[in-house]
Amino acid sequence: MTVRAPAKVNLHLGVGPRRADGYHEVITALQAVSLYDELTVSTPPGAPGEARGPEEASAAAEGTPAVAATVEIAGEGTAAPGGAGAADDVSVVPTDADNLAVRAALLVAEAAGIRGARIHLALAKGIPVAAGMAGGSADAAAALVACDALWGAGLSAGTLARLAARLGSDVPFPLTGGTALGLGRGERLSPVASAGEYHWVFALADGGLSTPAVYREFDRIDDGRTEPTPADAVLAALTTADPAQLGAALVNDLQAPAIRLRPALGDVLAAGRGHGALGALVSGSGPTCAFLARDAEHGALLAAGLEASGLARAVRRATAPAAGATIVTAPPPS
Ligand code: C5P
Repeated sequence: MTVRAPAKVNLHLGVGPRRADGYHEVITALQAVSLYDELTVSTPPGAPGEARGPEEASAAAEGTPAVAATVEIAGEGTAAPGGAGAADDVSVVPTDADNLAVRAALLVAEAAGIRGARIHLALAKGIPVAAGMAGGSADAAAALVACDALWGAGLSAGTLARLAARLGSDVPFPLTGGTALGLGRGERLSPVASAGEYHWVFALADGGLSTPAVYREFDRIDDGRTEPTPADAVLAALTTADPAQLGAALVNDLQAPAIRLRPALGDVLAAGRGHGALGALVSGSGPTCAFLARDAEHGALLAAGLEASGLARAVRRATAPAAGATIVTAPPPS
Protein backbone atom coordinates (compact mmCIF):
# COMPACT_ATOMS: atom_id res chain seq x y z
CA MET A 1 0.00 0.00 0.00
CA THR A 2 1.71 3.18 -1.18
CA VAL A 3 0.40 6.66 -0.45
CA ARG A 4 1.95 9.92 -1.56
CA ALA A 5 1.40 13.18 0.28
CA PRO A 6 2.38 16.73 -0.69
CA ALA A 7 4.56 19.44 0.82
CA LYS A 8 3.04 22.84 1.57
CA VAL A 9 3.89 26.47 1.37
CA ASN A 10 2.26 29.06 3.62
CA LEU A 11 1.01 31.85 1.35
CA HIS A 12 0.08 33.76 4.48
CA LEU A 13 1.23 33.01 8.00
CA GLY A 14 -0.14 35.55 10.45
CA VAL A 15 1.01 34.79 13.99
CA GLY A 16 -0.61 36.11 17.17
CA PRO A 17 0.72 36.03 20.71
CA ARG A 18 1.65 32.81 22.50
CA ARG A 19 -1.37 31.09 24.07
CA ALA A 20 -1.55 29.53 27.54
CA ASP A 21 -0.99 26.06 25.98
CA GLY A 22 2.29 27.22 24.39
CA TYR A 23 0.94 27.36 20.84
CA HIS A 24 0.37 30.54 18.88
CA GLU A 25 -2.95 31.50 17.42
CA VAL A 26 -2.43 31.71 13.64
CA ILE A 27 -4.29 32.73 10.52
CA THR A 28 -2.65 30.89 7.67
CA ALA A 29 -3.36 30.26 4.00
CA LEU A 30 -1.77 27.00 2.88
CA GLN A 31 -1.18 25.66 -0.59
CA ALA A 32 -0.05 22.11 -1.37
CA VAL A 33 2.84 21.95 -3.85
CA SER A 34 3.94 19.13 -6.15
CA LEU A 35 6.83 17.84 -4.02
CA TYR A 36 5.85 14.54 -2.44
CA ASP A 37 6.88 11.97 0.10
CA GLU A 38 5.82 8.40 -0.69
CA LEU A 39 5.09 6.01 2.11
CA THR A 40 4.78 2.27 1.51
CA VAL A 41 3.23 0.33 4.35
CA SER A 42 3.55 -3.45 4.25
CA THR A 43 3.11 -6.43 6.54
CA PRO A 44 6.50 -8.14 6.87
CA PRO A 45 6.46 -11.62 5.30
CA GLY A 46 5.63 -14.35 7.77
CA ALA A 47 4.79 -11.80 10.42
CA PRO A 48 2.94 -13.50 13.20
CA GLY A 49 -0.04 -11.68 14.59
CA GLU A 50 -1.39 -10.01 11.50
CA ALA A 51 -3.86 -7.25 12.18
CA ARG A 52 -6.93 -8.53 13.99
CA GLY A 53 -10.33 -6.94 13.88
CA PRO A 54 -12.26 -5.54 16.82
CA GLU A 55 -13.90 -8.88 17.71
CA GLU A 56 -10.61 -10.65 18.16
CA ALA A 57 -8.96 -7.62 19.71
CA SER A 58 -10.69 -8.14 23.03
CA ALA A 59 -9.30 -11.67 23.12
CA ALA A 60 -5.77 -10.39 22.53
CA ALA A 61 -3.58 -10.21 25.60
CA GLU A 62 -3.88 -6.92 27.44
CA GLY A 63 -0.73 -4.90 26.96
CA THR A 64 -0.02 -6.25 23.48
CA PRO A 65 1.20 -3.21 21.55
CA ALA A 66 -1.34 -2.21 18.91
CA VAL A 67 1.41 -1.89 16.32
CA ALA A 68 5.05 -2.92 16.10
CA ALA A 69 6.63 -0.95 13.27
CA THR A 70 9.99 -0.88 11.53
CA VAL A 71 10.96 2.19 9.52
CA GLU A 72 13.25 2.70 6.55
CA ILE A 73 13.96 6.12 5.04
CA ALA A 74 15.41 7.01 1.64
CA GLY A 75 15.40 9.96 -0.71
CA GLU A 76 15.83 13.72 -0.41
CA GLY A 77 18.73 14.48 1.90
CA THR A 78 19.32 10.81 2.67
CA ALA A 79 22.83 9.74 3.51
CA ALA A 80 24.15 7.17 1.03
CA PRO A 81 24.62 3.77 2.66
CA GLY A 82 27.98 3.88 4.41
CA GLY A 83 28.59 7.38 3.10
CA ALA A 84 28.76 10.75 4.80
CA GLY A 85 25.49 12.34 5.87
CA ALA A 86 23.96 14.81 3.47
CA ALA A 87 23.46 18.41 4.45
CA ASP A 88 19.95 17.87 5.79
CA ASP A 89 20.81 14.40 7.04
CA VAL A 90 17.66 12.36 7.57
CA SER A 91 19.24 11.10 10.78
CA VAL A 92 17.14 13.95 12.20
CA VAL A 93 14.13 11.85 11.18
CA PRO A 94 13.57 9.29 13.92
CA THR A 95 13.06 5.66 12.89
CA ASP A 96 11.57 4.62 16.23
CA ALA A 97 8.22 5.18 17.92
CA ASP A 98 8.84 8.97 17.80
CA ASN A 99 8.49 8.94 14.01
CA LEU A 100 5.27 10.80 13.19
CA ALA A 101 4.27 8.10 10.67
CA VAL A 102 4.63 5.39 13.36
CA ARG A 103 2.57 7.49 15.76
CA ALA A 104 -0.04 7.91 13.02
CA ALA A 105 -0.19 4.11 12.46
CA LEU A 106 -0.72 3.64 16.19
CA LEU A 107 -3.62 6.11 16.26
CA VAL A 108 -5.32 4.35 13.33
CA ALA A 109 -4.89 0.95 15.05
CA GLU A 110 -6.35 2.32 18.28
CA ALA A 111 -9.28 3.95 16.48
CA ALA A 112 -9.97 0.74 14.55
CA GLY A 113 -9.58 -1.58 17.56
CA ILE A 114 -6.62 -3.38 16.03
CA ARG A 115 -3.98 -5.08 18.18
CA GLY A 116 -0.77 -6.91 17.51
CA ALA A 117 -0.25 -5.65 13.96
CA ARG A 118 3.26 -5.71 12.53
CA ILE A 119 4.12 -3.29 9.76
CA HIS A 120 7.08 -2.00 7.83
CA LEU A 121 7.09 1.64 6.78
CA ALA A 122 9.30 2.54 3.80
CA LEU A 123 9.52 6.28 3.38
CA ALA A 124 10.78 7.78 0.11
CA LYS A 125 11.40 11.46 0.84
CA GLY A 126 10.92 13.98 -1.94
CA ILE A 127 10.22 16.75 0.59
CA PRO A 128 13.25 18.31 2.25
CA VAL A 129 13.65 17.45 5.94
CA ALA A 130 13.16 20.11 8.66
CA ALA A 131 12.74 22.68 5.90
CA GLY A 132 9.46 24.39 6.80
CA MET A 133 7.57 22.45 4.14
CA ALA A 134 5.75 20.04 6.50
CA GLY A 135 7.52 16.89 5.29
CA GLY A 136 7.04 15.08 8.60
CA SER A 137 3.39 16.09 8.57
CA ALA A 138 3.01 14.72 5.02
CA ASP A 139 4.47 11.40 6.22
CA ALA A 140 2.00 11.27 9.09
CA ALA A 141 -0.93 12.05 6.77
CA ALA A 142 0.26 9.35 4.35
CA ALA A 143 0.47 6.84 7.22
CA LEU A 144 -3.07 7.65 8.35
CA VAL A 145 -4.45 7.01 4.85
CA ALA A 146 -2.25 3.95 4.17
CA CYS A 147 -2.98 2.17 7.47
CA ASP A 148 -6.68 2.93 7.25
CA ALA A 149 -6.72 1.27 3.81
CA LEU A 150 -4.31 -1.59 4.67
CA TRP A 151 -6.39 -2.64 7.68
CA GLY A 152 -9.75 -1.91 6.03
CA ALA A 153 -10.51 0.34 9.00
CA GLY A 154 -12.94 2.52 7.04
CA LEU A 155 -12.33 5.62 9.17
CA SER A 156 -14.19 8.70 7.94
CA ALA A 157 -12.40 11.77 6.56
CA GLY A 158 -13.47 13.61 9.73
CA THR A 159 -11.95 10.96 12.00
CA LEU A 160 -8.69 10.97 10.03
CA ALA A 161 -8.58 14.78 10.31
CA ARG A 162 -9.10 14.59 14.09
CA LEU A 163 -6.32 12.00 14.44
CA ALA A 164 -4.13 14.21 12.24
CA ALA A 165 -4.66 17.25 14.49
CA ARG A 166 -3.51 15.16 17.50
CA LEU A 167 -0.23 14.45 15.68
CA GLY A 168 0.63 18.07 14.86
CA SER A 169 -0.78 21.40 13.77
CA ASP A 170 0.34 20.86 10.15
CA VAL A 171 -0.82 17.24 9.74
CA PRO A 172 -4.49 17.77 8.72
CA PHE A 173 -3.56 19.86 5.66
CA PRO A 174 -1.67 17.23 3.59
CA LEU A 175 -4.70 14.94 3.98
CA THR A 176 -6.77 17.27 1.81
CA GLY A 177 -4.11 19.30 -0.02
CA GLY A 178 -5.30 21.99 -2.44
CA THR A 179 -5.56 25.43 -0.88
CA ALA A 180 -6.95 26.04 2.59
CA LEU A 181 -7.31 28.56 5.37
CA GLY A 182 -5.99 27.34 8.73
CA LEU A 183 -7.09 28.81 12.06
CA GLY A 184 -6.45 27.96 15.71
CA ARG A 185 -2.91 26.60 15.84
CA GLY A 186 -3.27 26.03 12.08
CA GLU A 187 -5.15 22.73 12.32
CA ARG A 188 -8.71 24.07 11.85
CA LEU A 189 -8.98 24.02 8.06
CA SER A 190 -11.49 25.23 5.56
CA PRO A 191 -11.04 24.98 1.79
CA VAL A 192 -10.30 28.20 -0.09
CA ALA A 193 -11.07 29.09 -3.72
CA SER A 194 -7.90 29.21 -5.80
CA ALA A 195 -7.95 29.93 -9.52
CA GLY A 196 -5.19 28.91 -11.91
CA GLU A 197 -1.92 27.12 -11.43
CA TYR A 198 1.07 28.67 -9.69
CA HIS A 199 4.73 27.97 -10.39
CA TRP A 200 7.00 27.86 -7.36
CA VAL A 201 10.75 27.61 -6.95
CA PHE A 202 12.21 26.49 -3.63
CA ALA A 203 15.75 27.19 -2.46
CA LEU A 204 16.75 24.52 0.04
CA ALA A 205 19.23 25.35 2.76
CA ASP A 206 21.89 23.40 4.60
CA GLY A 207 20.56 22.11 7.91
CA GLY A 208 17.07 22.59 9.34
CA LEU A 209 15.50 25.25 11.51
CA SER A 210 13.51 24.12 14.54
CA THR A 211 9.90 25.32 14.45
CA PRO A 212 9.71 25.87 18.25
CA ALA A 213 13.01 27.84 18.10
CA VAL A 214 11.61 30.15 15.40
CA TYR A 215 8.40 30.68 17.38
CA ARG A 216 10.52 31.42 20.49
CA GLU A 217 12.47 34.01 18.50
CA PHE A 218 9.14 35.49 17.36
CA ASP A 219 8.13 35.78 21.04
CA ARG A 220 11.43 37.40 22.01
CA ILE A 221 10.56 40.54 20.05
CA ASP A 222 7.20 41.54 21.47
CA ASP A 223 5.66 43.84 18.89
CA GLY A 224 2.57 44.34 21.01
CA ARG A 225 0.22 42.54 18.65
CA THR A 226 -2.83 40.89 20.12
CA GLU A 227 -4.11 39.08 17.02
CA PRO A 228 -2.63 37.36 13.98
CA THR A 229 -2.59 39.41 10.75
CA PRO A 230 -5.67 38.53 8.65
CA ALA A 231 -5.19 36.74 5.30
CA ASP A 232 -7.68 38.83 3.27
CA ALA A 233 -5.19 40.09 0.66
CA VAL A 234 -3.94 36.58 -0.16
CA LEU A 235 -7.46 35.15 -0.28
CA ALA A 236 -8.55 37.88 -2.71
CA ALA A 237 -5.42 37.41 -4.88
CA LEU A 238 -6.02 33.65 -5.12
CA THR A 239 -9.31 34.21 -6.93
CA THR A 240 -7.61 36.23 -9.70
CA ALA A 241 -5.25 33.49 -11.00
CA ASP A 242 -2.75 36.36 -11.33
CA PRO A 243 0.65 35.38 -9.87
CA ALA A 244 1.69 39.04 -9.68
CA GLN A 245 -1.21 39.78 -7.32
CA LEU A 246 -0.53 36.68 -5.25
CA GLY A 247 3.18 37.45 -5.13
CA ALA A 248 2.51 40.96 -3.81
CA ALA A 249 0.16 39.62 -1.12
CA LEU A 250 2.41 36.92 0.43
CA VAL A 251 2.99 37.33 4.20
CA ASN A 252 4.99 35.33 6.71
CA ASP A 253 5.25 36.64 10.26
CA LEU A 254 7.88 33.97 11.01
CA GLN A 255 10.16 35.32 8.29
CA ALA A 256 11.83 38.04 10.38
CA PRO A 257 12.58 35.68 13.32
CA ALA A 258 13.84 33.00 10.89
CA ILE A 259 16.20 35.55 9.29
CA ARG A 260 17.39 36.71 12.74
CA LEU A 261 18.34 33.08 13.47
CA ARG A 262 19.78 32.52 9.97
CA PRO A 263 20.80 35.89 8.41
CA ALA A 264 21.91 34.20 5.16
CA LEU A 265 18.21 33.67 4.31
CA GLY A 266 17.96 37.40 3.62
CA ASP A 267 20.56 37.01 0.84
CA VAL A 268 18.67 34.05 -0.67
CA LEU A 269 15.43 36.07 -0.76
CA ALA A 270 17.24 39.01 -2.36
CA ALA A 271 18.77 36.73 -5.01
CA GLY A 272 15.33 35.37 -5.96
CA ARG A 273 13.89 38.88 -6.18
CA GLY A 274 16.88 39.82 -8.34
CA HIS A 275 15.82 37.10 -10.76
CA GLY A 276 12.35 38.61 -11.03
CA ALA A 277 10.41 36.50 -8.50
CA LEU A 278 6.89 37.94 -8.14
CA GLY A 279 6.97 37.01 -4.47
CA ALA A 280 9.72 35.77 -2.18
CA LEU A 281 9.30 34.48 1.35
CA VAL A 282 10.61 32.05 3.90
CA SER A 283 8.48 28.90 3.77
CA GLY A 284 6.75 28.37 7.12
CA SER A 285 9.38 28.43 9.87
CA GLY A 286 12.16 27.98 7.27
CA PRO A 287 14.90 27.59 6.27
CA THR A 288 13.55 26.88 2.76
CA CYS A 289 12.85 30.04 0.75
CA ALA A 290 9.91 30.03 -1.66
CA PHE A 291 9.69 32.11 -4.85
CA LEU A 292 6.66 32.65 -7.03
CA ALA A 293 7.40 32.67 -10.77
CA ARG A 294 5.37 34.26 -13.57
CA ASP A 295 4.96 30.94 -15.40
CA ALA A 296 6.77 27.64 -16.01
CA GLU A 297 9.39 29.24 -18.26
CA HIS A 298 10.20 31.95 -15.72
CA GLY A 299 10.30 29.24 -13.04
CA ALA A 300 13.07 27.46 -14.97
CA LEU A 301 15.07 30.71 -15.31
CA LEU A 302 14.58 31.59 -11.67
CA ALA A 303 15.69 28.09 -10.61
CA ALA A 304 18.79 28.32 -12.81
CA GLY A 305 19.63 31.76 -11.39
CA LEU A 306 19.30 30.55 -7.80
CA GLU A 307 21.40 27.47 -8.57
CA ALA A 308 24.11 29.65 -10.14
CA SER A 309 24.08 31.99 -7.11
CA GLY A 310 25.56 29.21 -4.96
CA LEU A 311 23.38 30.44 -2.08
CA ALA A 312 21.14 27.33 -1.98
CA ARG A 313 22.03 23.72 -1.20
CA ALA A 314 19.59 22.65 -3.92
CA VAL A 315 16.73 24.15 -5.90
CA ARG A 316 13.38 22.50 -6.62
CA ARG A 317 10.48 23.55 -8.85
CA ALA A 318 6.86 22.71 -8.14
CA THR A 319 3.36 23.58 -9.27
CA ALA A 320 0.43 24.33 -7.01
CA PRO A 321 -2.18 23.60 -5.84
CA ALA A 322 -1.43 19.87 -5.57
CA ALA A 323 -3.73 17.06 -4.45
CA GLY A 324 -3.75 15.72 -0.90
CA ALA A 325 -2.67 12.27 0.34
CA THR A 326 -3.49 9.77 -2.40
CA ILE A 327 -3.21 6.00 -2.64
CA VAL A 328 -0.94 5.22 -5.59
CA THR A 329 -0.94 1.43 -5.27
CA ALA A 330 -3.59 -0.75 -3.76
CA PRO A 331 -2.92 -4.03 -1.93
CA PRO A 332 -3.15 -7.21 -4.00
CA PRO A 333 -6.65 -8.77 -3.85
CA SER A 334 -6.86 -11.27 -1.00
O1 C5P B 1 1.92 21.24 16.28
P1 C5P B 1 3.36 20.91 16.12
O2 C5P B 1 3.81 19.81 17.03
O3 C5P B 1 3.77 20.68 14.71
O4 C5P B 1 4.15 22.21 16.57
C1 C5P B 1 5.53 22.18 16.80
C2 C5P B 1 5.89 23.35 17.69
O5 C5P B 1 5.75 24.57 16.98
C3 C5P B 1 5.03 23.52 18.93
O6 C5P B 1 5.51 22.76 20.00
C4 C5P B 1 5.15 25.01 19.21
O7 C5P B 1 6.39 25.28 19.84
C5 C5P B 1 5.24 25.60 17.81
N1 C5P B 1 3.95 26.05 17.31
C6 C5P B 1 3.38 27.19 17.84
N2 C5P B 1 2.18 27.64 17.35
C7 C5P B 1 1.55 26.99 16.35
C8 C5P B 1 2.12 25.82 15.79
C9 C5P B 1 3.32 25.38 16.30
O8 C5P B 1 3.93 27.81 18.75
N3 C5P B 1 0.39 27.47 15.89
